[in-house]
Amino acid sequence: MRRFYLLHFLILSSNLLLSQQKKELDYDVNYDESKVPNYQLPALLESSTGQQINTSEDWRNLRRPEILSLFSNMVYGIIPVPDDPINADYKILKEDPTFLKGKGTRKDLLITLKNSKGEVQMNVLMVVPNEKVNPAPAFMMISFDASGTSRLQLSKKNNGRFNNGWPIGQLLDSGYAFVSVYHQDLVKHNDVEFENGIHRLFYNESQSFPKANEWGVLAACGYGAMKTLDYLETDDDVDHLKVALMGHSKLGKAALWAAAQDERFAMVISANSGCAGAALWRRKYGETLQKMCSRFPYWLCYNAQKFIDREEDLPVDQHMLLALIAPRPVYVASAVNDNWADPRGEYLSAYHASEVYQLLGKKGLNSMENPPKNKAFIHQDVGFHLRDGGHYIADYDWHRFIDFANYHFK
Ligand code: GCU
Repeated sequence: MRRFYLLHFLILSSNLLLSQQKKELDYDVNYDESKVPNYQLPALLESSTGQQINTSEDWRNLRRPEILSLFSNMVYGIIPVPDDPINADYKILKEDPTFLKGKGTRKDLLITLKNSKGEVQMNVLMVVPNEKVNPAPAFMMISFDASGTSRLQLSKKNNGRFNNGWPIGQLLDSGYAFVSVYHQDLVKHNDVEFENGIHRLFYNESQSFPKANEWGVLAACGYGAMKTLDYLETDDDVDHLKVALMGHSKLGKAALWAAAQDERFAMVISANSGCAGAALWRRKYGETLQKMCSRFPYWLCYNAQKFIDREEDLPVDQHMLLALIAPRPVYVASAVNDNWADPRGEYLSAYHASEVYQLLGKKGLNSMENPPKNKAFIHQDVGFHLRDGGHYIADYDWHRFIDFANYHFK
């Protein structure tokens, strides 16, 4: 018993110490709208040589590649071309057509990526609806939960829902497949060594760490989604032309960047992705580059660290990331109390990205004013909502994501 109390005491005091340290680390976080600095965003529709971008061809052939290259080399890191090509092997380990009383089929997919430098494996969980005329459109989520863990089992209390809250039954009823890609299969959550995951397969002869412009953690999470999409292209149950890539928080960042690079993703959904996700860097509200890099030094590439405390010198801002997704639909979900993720900055980023959507004949957001709470902008190509509550995916979010997918996919 005494041992138990001692242990309890130790845990409590170390938690206290940690939150104290966090407070000290974060004493200077700005949550005051009036202290947001004046800033000027880099122009979306002007090329690096000053040429105005007035047509969709100029966007496509000139400005988009410039912006993509800047994000690749300065923010998230390029995915290098490995000396020895990566070989991918896909295997369905288990297939259960009786999932949820026969509503769906659960497939446990093993992806093995391999070359002479090594091998890594991904365990992807898929659920596809049984009742369907055509292949099903899909939500692919880069996820915090590993398949096979109890959080990814059907909840006993609430049929059709996983223990972690995913409304699988509802997705199946709405005609969607669901695919979950675990974020740590290819790279550890906060890897700073890059010795054991996917990165080493891409090193050249003498290399043992990513170069300054080479991929960090977020880009590697996104690479896992791309490899999973390669598989979906071969699976007749899923309509690979209608895959919405989504993620929450860290994984919303990863989803946005993956879809910016890989135009096979037909839609992107960012839930509370915040700093290095949908939120604008230059507002310096909530989490900043300095805060992110002090906790997670290599979520981005090393080059990004050069802009710590000088975000105004970044050649890009995050409205340009959202614009890279155009003309494909993008949905940004924010929450009122999620101040660390700067909901206002997420909205403004989606608003400014709308300039490119409009150039491409699509419908974006047309007001800079903060939108009302709990009102969803669904029937357009840049979707958005700001719900009550904090940093999680709520039922409200799921319902709006399904509405947005219904509007665009059906
Ligand atoms: C931390 C991090 C955020 C991230 C979040 C999450 O708070 O600073 O950038 O979005 O974790 O992934 O939940």
